[in-house]
Amino acid sequence: MNKVVGTAVSRKDGRAKVMGTATYAAEHQIPGLVHGYLVTSSIANGQIKSIDISAAKKASGVIAVFTHENAPKMFMPTNDFMTSKIYEARLPLSDDKIHYAGQIIGLVVADTFERARDAAHLVKVEYATQKPLVEVTKASFKEPPPQFGEELKFEKGNFAAGLASATTKLTATYKTSTEMHAPMEPHATIAHWQDANSLTIYEPSQWVLGSQRTYADLFGLPSERVRVVTPFLGGAFGSKAFPWPHGILCAAAARQVQRPLKVVLSRRQMTANAGHRSETEQTIRLGATADGSLTAIAHEVKSYTSPVDVFTEPCTGITPVMYTAPNLQLKQELAVLNIGTPTFMRGPGENPGLWAMESAMDELAWMLKIDPVELRLKNETKEHQRQGKPFSAKHFADCLRVGAEQFDWKDRPKQPRSLTRDGKLVGWGMAASTFPGLRTKASVKVRLLPDGTAHLLTAGNDMGTGAYTVVAVTAAEALGLPVEQVRVELGDSLLPDGGLAGGSQMTASLVPAVMSACQQVLKTANAKTAQEAFATLRQSKRAAFEAIASSAPGDEAKKWAFQSWGAHFCEVSVDEEIGRLRVTRWVSVMDIGRVINSKTAASQVRGGVIMGIGQALMEECHLDPNIGYPVVYDLATYHFPAHADTPRIEVAFVGEPDLNFNPGGARGVGEIGITGVSAAIANAVYHATGKRIRDLPITPDKLI
Ligand code: MOS
Repeated sequence: MNKVVGTAVSRKDGRAKVMGTATYAAEHQIPGLVHGYLVTSSIANGQIKSIDISAAKKASGVIAVFTHENAPKMFMPTNDFMTSKIYEARLPLSDDKIHYAGQIIGLVVADTFERARDAAHLVKVEYATQKPLVEVTKASFKEPPPQFGEELKFEKGNFAAGLASATTKLTATYKTSTEMHAPMEPHATIAHWQDANSLTIYEPSQWVLGSQRTYADLFGLPSERVRVVTPFLGGAFGSKAFPWPHGILCAAAARQVQRPLKVVLSRRQMTANAGHRSETEQTIRLGATADGSLTAIAHEVKSYTSPVDVFTEPCTGITPVMYTAPNLQLKQELAVLNIGTPTFMRGPGENPGLWAMESAMDELAWMLKIDPVELRLKNETKEHQRQGKPFSAKHFADCLRVGAEQFDWKDRPKQPRSLTRDGKLVGWGMAASTFPGLRTKASVKVRLLPDGTAHLLTAGNDMGTGAYTVVAVTAAEALGLPVEQVRVELGDSLLPDGGLAGGSQMTASLVPAVMSACQQVLKTANAKTAQEAFATLRQSKRAAFEAIASSAPGDEAKKWAFQSWGAHFCEVSVDEEIGRLRVTRWVSVMDIGRVINSKTAASQVRGGVIMGIGQALMEECHLDPNIGYPVVYDLATYHFPAHADTPRIEVAFVGEPDLNFNPGGARGVGEIGITGVSAAIANAVYHATGKRIRDLPITPDKLI
């Protein structure tokens, strides 16, 4: 059989994207389409006293104007993550209350986008304004409710006693800033009602079948009457898993005006209405004996949510999986601010959590005069300390050793400020990565066609991560075909349930289902190989052999904990005179189980590292404390790395197929790359400058 899995295969969807033939949500051409433009609140807290739409209604081209006074009809979904969830648990236009700046308070529908936008500015609003609360320093914090059915607090042993027995103790507080999602593809929805009971939605969705159920619940329809279409996503990162208010309102208004309707968010509207990552303040307390063995770990986290939903940035998820200590204490607290609802963003919890933990481990290593790689090797945990189960496959130590070797870590001078180049300080840093191995039930259909091609179909989505290619690679190997002869169709709720492109689980979910469907179709064809099946097809003049198969998690989770591992090593140069920091070298080594496509897998790690560099050095969304508006609001004011900010990123994979996890052995790679990046950079900055920076992003003012 030809070997395809694990080789470097170029993206199946690459040509369509480069040629502009990949159709994104807002680009679908629907005859008779009309355009909606959102009216948004100019205050961040208070109430609408009056809203005057008379001028807007009279403006040319205007078809309808919706406000809370004539809101189109919608029902409340269950708001359970696994059934029908909306990101913001308040239905749009449901009352006159204002909870955050930029909240949707109306929608103008017109024959063109320009006329809708023009009329939206004619809506006159009078508010009863209250001072918004947008500063965490002024907020009061409470214990959040469980998230995904799990309590966020946890204790093992006795932290105080464990700390008392330590000879070296560290207490430090680390901060991350509010980060905007800023995907290249803006959030947009086209809603097309074929009749009063049949709806098609074109929107960027990481989970078309989840959205299908939600839209069905919102409009009191059976799921079968809703179709959600998302063949391509231009970046999502967690911000496109569930419907947002603009999409809900678009569908509701389209039903009322009986025309297909498109609503596209401006970059500025996305700051409030499409999610972001909450800032966090995390206090880590570590106790260790002189040989570097941890005796106690405490991790306390503060983050915020909006007044209209609960989302807790789950930073303590990483603590029981990283380092072993007989005494652990985890606690999270949550405040409510007048800000749009924060949400999942690549490595939610893991990313900010590791920023704090991996910075603290570096600080401890300096205190103990132990190499930071050695400190991690010494304390790695053999089991998930919360689940009480061993890991299905763990090669964290290999990540550290291989990374150290590739980076020449042994040559690192032992003192800060001891490396210079071209008049600049140079520093080396490292940090660990981790992300859970997740998987859901997925179904795939395969068709063998007489022209010698295989056609794979599933509703699972490709966020730009490489799912088209991963499905093709897996099928090519299972059927003994060249990848070019495999065609893949994704992202349509009419297709078999492919699960959710989130939690880095698409590959681990789809690969076993693809393998199974391919075996099944050969059986159906009574053939040993695809070639044999093609020959039978031609003789019999049949159109296709077809099979559908599903794969789902079983009892393995009773026995094992599933987790991916990694390590980043980096070099920075710092020009202290102007506070300029450059990332000059990068090595990432990952253990993600079986690598299905080495090219797109490495790309995912590189993308994660680049996004992490943004978090470490640039990304920061301040809100004006008086008016509650973000002071950055578009791709010009919100900074993230360009090519010139990014070094060559070497990526290597270690480990083995994780067959305890699933028959494909893959654990997924979408998020792990970003985890630990900001800590690796801050640790390198300490080595370069002797300055410990605990507050992201590391902007020039902090280095001068
Ligand atoms: Mo991801 S933050 O689960 O899209």
